[in-house]
Parts: sequence; structure tokens; C-alpha cells
Amino acid sequence: MNMNDLIGKKRDGGKLSQEEIEYFVKGYTDGSIPDYQMSALLMAIYFQKMDKEETFHLTRAMKQSGDVIDLSAIKGIKVDKHSTGGVGDKTTLVVAPLAAACGVPIAKMSGRGLGFTGGTVDKMEAIPGFQTSIEADKFIRQVNSIGLSVIGQTAHIAPADKKIYALRDVTATVDNMSLISSSIMSKKLASGSDAIVLDVKCGDGAFMESFEDACTLGKMMVEIGNADHKRTIAVITDMNQPLGRAVGNSLEVMEAIDTLKGEGPQDITELSLTLAGIMIYAGGRAESKEQGYEMAEKVLKNGEALKKLAEFIEGQGGNPEIVNDYALFPQHTCIKDVICHNSGYVNQIAAKAIGLASQHSGAGRATKEDSIDLSAGVYLHKKVGDTVEKGEILATVYGTDAEKVERSAEEAEKAFSVSAVKPEQDELIKMIII
Ligand code: URA
Repeated sequence: MNMNDLIGKKRDGGKLSQEEIEYFVKGYTDGSIPDYQMSALLMAIYFQKMDKEETFHLTRAMKQSGDVIDLSAIKGIKVDKHSTGGVGDKTTLVVAPLAAACGVPIAKMSGRGLGFTGGTVDKMEAIPGFQTSIEADKFIRQVNSIGLSVIGQTAHIAPADKKIYALRDVTATVDNMSLISSSIMSKKLASGSDAIVLDVKCGDGAFMESFEDACTLGKMMVEIGNADHKRTIAVITDMNQPLGRAVGNSLEVMEAIDTLKGEGPQDITELSLTLAGIMIYAGGRAESKEQGYEMAEKVLKNGEALKKLAEFIEGQGGNPEIVNDYALFPQHTCIKDVICHNSGYVNQIAAKAIGLASQHSGAGRATKEDSIDLSAGVYLHKKVGDTVEKGEILATVYGTDAEKVERSAEEAEKAFSVSAVKPEQDELIKMIII
């Protein structure tokens, strides 16, 4: 077999066999296939697409390129949750304690943010002392003792995806259905949980802008998960405006804590209860997702989920007092308000533009090597549909670099549009694929 023939076959619309897919995944991972040939194949896949069978083989080959974690030492049905990426998406920090407080063991591996989307690992590192890199035996012990641990993805999980994803990022081959679903599912299937709940974002701040594309992606990932004997459920959710009001690491953790105190924004509360309800159902602790929702609501109201979050923070080296004392978070030194210039209704808050404004305030990185300002980000005082008066504050930008904060505020201002007519609200939870 040789790579030149495979590139030509795919370029001409051919179907790659299991052996051919395994050949290029193995060869690219071990370095025997160079970047230029892999780039050409990715571009051929991008234009000619892969069918379902090819996508399944690609997912399996990438999953098997590294370690497949054995979580059998953890009692109960382990449930993982994954978001395809969005702006202001701090749901893991709410959903994981909600589900764990209802008895579902959560042994989760999360990623860092890149570009305009945030990542759970960066958010958790806004808690001073919090360790996201812990040994496997401590990870398993913590899930068995308090029911919840979240760590960063190790280099040994799906290394083929790690290399291929980095190449896709610089060859304009990210937004292909088969490449996205195999990338996400190879990591999820290697991470060892028994069930997977996928939050597939759809809209201007997501990889899939249209509802139809998000549904196709969700269905494909559900089929891949189920074929690997993991109960997999996808929820298609709105990402046309940022989720909640806070975008940026410390700001988002504070908002997640507020949500667990029952004081969070309505959208993040609703989405978190829905996802947690589905996880509780998938974890066998409820007979339906509706009953799971009620259980999640109960532990939110009686404070057990907040207590679980504090235990989780303490278990991973952070100070649990942070849930009561936000002065323990890294502090900003610069603030800039975004002022509204005409009265009316907030018609649109472009999610991607707010994500970029937050990134540029210091909260995100342009390359994996950049360091981030954990205090930086954008706080939205207004959401779509709110009334606003001329001179009112639409958003506030925080950070420690005055120039960055100033520039970010200019970008944030452009993300808002105000109209005389009240806009229709996008539905937050659009579809559940079981
Ligand atoms: N997240 C991933 O892990 N991979 C993709 O291709 C897109 C989003």
C-alpha cells in the first residue's frame, strides 16, 4: 500500500477500505507519512467526503492509536459529557456536580480552549491550586470517594487525533462532518466512560452554523458511540449568542458557582439541568430524562450540588472556600464598559465576535503555547431580547492589560446590534437525539 495511491483514490471520489484507513492513521502517527501527504489526503477527504463506514473505521483507528482507559475500577455507570465547543460554555462545571450529587460517577477528561472557544481545563485552572494533571490512580480514587474528577486530556489518548487535528487547523480542513465526528468520538471512546452525552452547538459561535448540519453531526456521533456499545445521546443547542453572561475563565467559574447557588442566568441553568437530567438517566439513576431533570433540580435547590463542587475543588488541590469568596480568584486591574448608543431591543450578540473579544482581552490563546490572563474576559449585562436605553452599559471587559481591554471593548461593541422591534428568541434546546 502507498500513500500516493490513497490520495489519488480519494481525490477521484473512491471509498477507502478499513486497511487503507488504518494504514494512513498508523503511518501519520508514527511519522512515516509526512505532513504534505497527509494534508493532501485531508483536503481530498474534505472535498469528496467519507461515507458512514469510512467514518466509523477512521474513528476506530484513531481511538486505537493510543491508550484506551480502563475505568472498570470505578463502581457504577460512568457518564461523560462533551460539548462541540462554544462561547461562554461553562456547563461542565455545573452539570458534573449536579450529576455526581445524584449518584452518577463522573470521570471526565476535558480540553483547553483554542481560538474563540473556551476549554474546561483553563477554566478550572482559574481556581488557585487546582490540579488538572493528576495520576490515574488518584483520579480513580477521587471518583470512587466523592463521585467526580475532571482532568486534562493525556498525550496518550488518541494521539493520531492530536496530530491530525493540529494539521487540520492549519490546512483549512476542520469543518468536515466525518473529520469532526471521528476526532471527537475517538477521544470519547478512548476515555473509558460507559455512556456519552454530547452537547452539539449550532449557530454563529459553533463549528456547525446550521441546524441541519448540527443534526447530521449529532446523529453521526450517536451512531458511532452506539456501535462501540456506549450509550450515546446528543442534544442540539443554540450558540447564536454566548451562553450565560460571563465569557472568560474566572468570570465563567464564578457564574457556574452562582448557577449552583440558584442565582445563575436562565439559559445556563436550563441547559445544565437538561444535560444533567439526561446524564442521570443515561447513568441509570433515573427512569427517564424528565425524572433526571427533577433530581438535578432538587440537588441544585438543596445545595448538595454546590457542596459537591466544593469537595471536587478540594480533592484536586484548590481552596473550596472560593465558592463563598470570589476575591480568591485572580483579580483584574483594568475595566472598560461598552456603552449603548441608541435605545431599543438587543437584537443580536454575535457569539463568535464576543468569543474573539474575550480571547483578545487575554482570556484565550492564538496558539497552544500562549499563556492566558485568567482574570480577563467579557461580561454581558444585556442578552438578546432585553430592552436597552441609550447610555446604558451593554457589557464590561476585564483584564490586566489596558491596551488589550480597550481593543476588546471595541470588538465587543461591534458584536451587539440594537433594533426598534423585539426580536424572536432562538430556542435554546433544539433537539435531543437518543
Ligand atoms: N472538537 C474536536 O475535538 N475535534 C474537532 O474536529 C472539532 C471539535
